[in-house]
Amino acid sequence: MKKYYNGEFTLKNLNEEVTLYGWVAKKRDLGGLIFIDLRDRTGIIQIVINPESEFYNKALEIKNEYVLKVEGKIIERQSKNLDLPTGEIEVSVSNLEILNTSELLPIEINGEVMSLEDTRLKYRYLDLRRPELKKNFFIRHQITKAVRNYLDDNGFIDLETPILTKSTPEGARDYLVPSRINKGSFYALPQSPQIFKQLLMVAGFERYYQIAKCFRDEDLRADRQPEFTQIDMEMSFASEEDIFELCEGMFKKVMREVKGIDLKTPFERLKYDDAMSMYGSDKPDTRFEMLLNNITDIFKNSEFVVFKSVIESNGVINALVVKNNADKYSRKGIDELTEFVKKYGAKGLAWAKYVDNELTGGISKNISDTEKEELINKLNLENNDLVLIVADKKKISQTSLGALRTKLARDLDLIDKSKFNFLWITDFPMFEYSETENRYMAAHHPFTMPKDVNTLDDPENCYARAYDSVLNGYELASGSVRIHDKNIQAKVFEALQISDEEAKTKFGFLLEAFKYGAPPHIGIGFGLERLVMILSGTENIRDVVTFPKTASASCLMTEAPNIVDEKQLTELGIKLEK
Ligand code: AMO
Repeated sequence: MKKYYNGEFTLKNLNEEVTLYGWVAKKRDLGGLIFIDLRDRTGIIQIVINPESEFYNKALEIKNEYVLKVEGKIIERQSKNLDLPTGEIEVSVSNLEILNTSELLPIEINGEVMSLEDTRLKYRYLDLRRPELKKNFFIRHQITKAVRNYLDDNGFIDLETPILTKSTPEGARDYLVPSRINKGSFYALPQSPQIFKQLLMVAGFERYYQIAKCFRDEDLRADRQPEFTQIDMEMSFASEEDIFELCEGMFKKVMREVKGIDLKTPFERLKYDDAMSMYGSDKPDTRFEMLLNNITDIFKNSEFVVFKSVIESNGVINALVVKNNADKYSRKGIDELTEFVKKYGAKGLAWAKYVDNELTGGISKNISDTEKEELINKLNLENNDLVLIVADKKKISQTSLGALRTKLARDLDLIDKSKFNFLWITDFPMFEYSETENRYMAAHHPFTMPKDVNTLDDPENCYARAYDSVLNGYELASGSVRIHDKNIQAKVFEALQISDEEAKTKFGFLLEAFKYGAPPHIGIGFGLERLVMILSGTENIRDVVTFPKTASASCLMTEAPNIVDEKQLTELGIKLEK
């Protein structure tokens, strides 16, 4: 068995006789001496073979990615490389075996990433040999290890729930699996273990967790995969405060063990409405300021048609101030920002610069002197500030500026990357207005407890006992207090326009279970990949999934999804449309 890790040897190990295994990362033939960098999962160690060695000829044959067994002695290097942990030592060889050869790799795995992502995904197992990528999976492992230990210490039991199941209520499209035995029927892969974990509470387990696979057929983004993993938890006889404290303790441990950081708790809390009005996002990145300012009042009697018409139709006007950077934005630069906010539904981006004690450019010619004065005071403008304004429906004004805020902070390098700003967003609305459906829809799954049952008939003012955990601008988790009372559940279904029939077909077994002494319960589900992404310092979810899917949900290595045999389809009773 391999006993040593190549990357861990230092001067402390001088003169030790060792047997090493690994892959040839690099071979240098310096006319006389041959140097080999032997890589394993921890790093590389330099092997040196001199021309007098009986293994010299064998060493000449060796190429990159050959698999070697090397016996030898740890000696001090003549010329040291202090950038490498093993850079002060090397191995003088006493025995050398080639365990396997390798063809020339189809992708470059040493140094900077040179190959196309599609080729790297096709040869994922080779790309995973890159230490920079491999490192993320050790972080992932450290996180799950810390989480498991913590939850175990706190009385949580790890329980598995089915993968071949029935639709769960997270609201994305299901992946379906046809049943051979029950032709014409389908299983759905779980979008989360939601219903099952609630049933485990009815079953009296009291504290459940699972590092659970979830499947969602939805449009993919940089932080979404069709199959992903949740740190999923549920707990009986507990309140929001208990869940917050518990999760804060979990992150304290994770951050200490994985990053060596002592996290301050309790985390900051923000109500959803406040997050939206201050940051234009329900997952705000609080590592930088640049808050939104509601300046509607200043323009309530404005003659400026754009603002006037927005106010008349009950819209709002929000502004962002980009401090001391007005000179960086030319007309063209501002046009680009305008195009950016349009992607979020804004009709335009009004702007002005504050230079030499006056507002210039953009809308400065359209607004009155009093409005200018009020704007300067309200926004505390200073020389070289740029003001960016979106007047629109409240949501559009907020979300477009919220997205712009993040973009500007990135472009201007305003984010302190050493910070990990965890926060809780609370008091989410119970309903969301859907422009496509023209009605109010559930903002969460339908088992979410309303703050006040009496407000269910007033969707604009009905809030949920639901919360999100947010870290550095990412939504890490969602959770809620669940409804355990069948009368409240019936009222919520009614408010969500879910008929008795539909509720019965979709969730009948859960509703049935709730007849038999369901305990009050509460839970949360964290996206594991998002956490790993942030702690690994990557913005691409594929960097933290061993064998990820592309943006079009396919695996370039296995070529899944693929066409199946006619025979298999016949067995399933399925005929494909031509
Ligand atoms: P929700 O649907 O908000 O809640 O999901 C919880 C968390 O899972 C992560 N996540 C994803 N990560 C990667 N790829 C995806 N496609 C993806 N979709 C979601 C996010 C998200 O915050 N059952 C509830 C939780 C509960 O109420 O207990 C649920 O699944 O980080």
